[in-house]
Amino acid sequence: MSSGVKKSGRLIKAPENFLAAQDAKAPALMRRKFLAASASTAAASLAALGLSAPKNALASVGEGDPNILNLPAHTTGLGMPVAANPYGMPSQYEKGLQRRESPGLTRVSAASVAFTPLQGTFGIITPSGLHFERHHQGWWDIDPSKHRLMVMGLVKNPKVYTMDDIMRLPSVSRIHFIECGANTAMEWGNVAVPTVQYSHGMVSCSEFTGVPLSVLLEDCGIDRKAARYVLAEGADGSSMTRTIALDRALDDVIVAYGMNGEMLRPENGYPLRLVVPGIQGVSWVKWLRRIEVGDMKWAAKDESIHYIDLMPGGLHRQYTGIQEAKSVITTPSGGQTLLDKGFYNISGLAWSGRGKIKRVDVSVDGGRNWRTARLETPVLSKAFTRFNIDWVWNGGPAILQSRAQDDTGYIQPKINQLRAVRGTRSIYHQNAIQSWRVADNGEVSNVQIY
Ligand code: MTE
Repeated sequence: MSSGVKKSGRLIKAPENFLAAQDAKAPALMRRKFLAASASTAAASLAALGLSAPKNALASVGEGDPNILNLPAHTTGLGMPVAANPYGMPSQYEKGLQRRESPGLTRVSAASVAFTPLQGTFGIITPSGLHFERHHQGWWDIDPSKHRLMVMGLVKNPKVYTMDDIMRLPSVSRIHFIECGANTAMEWGNVAVPTVQYSHGMVSCSEFTGVPLSVLLEDCGIDRKAARYVLAEGADGSSMTRTIALDRALDDVIVAYGMNGEMLRPENGYPLRLVVPGIQGVSWVKWLRRIEVGDMKWAAKDESIHYIDLMPGGLHRQYTGIQEAKSVITTPSGGQTLLDKGFYNISGLAWSGRGKIKRVDVSVDGGRNWRTARLETPVLSKAFTRFNIDWVWNGGPAILQSRAQDDTGYIQPKINQLRAVRGTRSIYHQNAIQSWRVADNGEVSNVQIY
């Protein structure tokens, strides 16, 4: 820590975010190198101007900064032509920001998860290329001209729709989060993973466009007297079938083809997926090919042996799809390093499957004291809400936590409250308060405090 230096706080991003592999192994060493390098660059620049560095005045480095004094090529030369990248790509300097598979999580990568780097995204929309992926049997890039959606069962006129048929119908666009029911599952027993990408990265938020499911059900003449449930089925080899209660199916469920202003990405279900706002990701059936209307739950494999909650007394709970209120601080977060004491903007995300986020409180002392964070607009139902709060780090140890409350009054629980009911070997619906420990050397790590 450079004591007494008055300047804005800075941090080293989490290793898997921006650093090269060898640096990721030694964040502490990196930090020392960084401080030494900035000090010597500053001193050299001032010496070139015949000045000596005033003590603790690195902030004035701009006066002799070669990045200003030596004109770079981009101010004198001709830049790249338009449409050099017909489909735009992020800057080469951002290439460390990627969705990543957690090594060893599953035996084959076709049945695995790629986590969203929440630590590196801003606002509430997840860029499509960083949207998390969860496949049970790999992903496909399906030819939309050959894709069909069948609607059948308790309807007067069963129909088969082509993509053209669906895209002619009245559409809606809505911003919603999608969270896998197994997000944060690895932390049920103890601290398991170092960064927010792996602890919370099975959640993303996008604008989805498509036809309300209710429009298709009405179009086929749903038998309102007999119908109780619908079944959604995907076209991949995983036989992904999920039961959805009829009142929900007629409410805000969308048969979606668009995501963030373009067609769905293949990994996320191109050309058609179900969007079931507030409900765990597994019900958002990708590569959607069949909707069946029925009068009983189907008890499919992914709702009778998977995606169930362990309960006391050897019981389990089925059909608990709603993702309860949850929040996490995305920066500072695990794997990052704070370089200086001083000002930091604590920033994070909150969401609830029941509606809007009403309030997020933040603690920097492990839950003894709480301050209410600013909720950035828009605050939408069943969508990410971005929160921010100012913090001046005094250079001592701190425990950062956020606690969300939604508009039903539900408050995000502590991990010991969840464990008291669900034990330490559960998998799904882990929405506990997350703690990040800031050590006095600035390193941020994942801890469990309650
Ligand atoms: N739909 C099909 N057809 N096949 C799948 O493997 N995975 C489900 C769901 N829909 C899956 C599926 C699970 S478990 C989740 S969490 C979400 O898709 C993930 O959606 P995403 O890959 O777009 O993030």
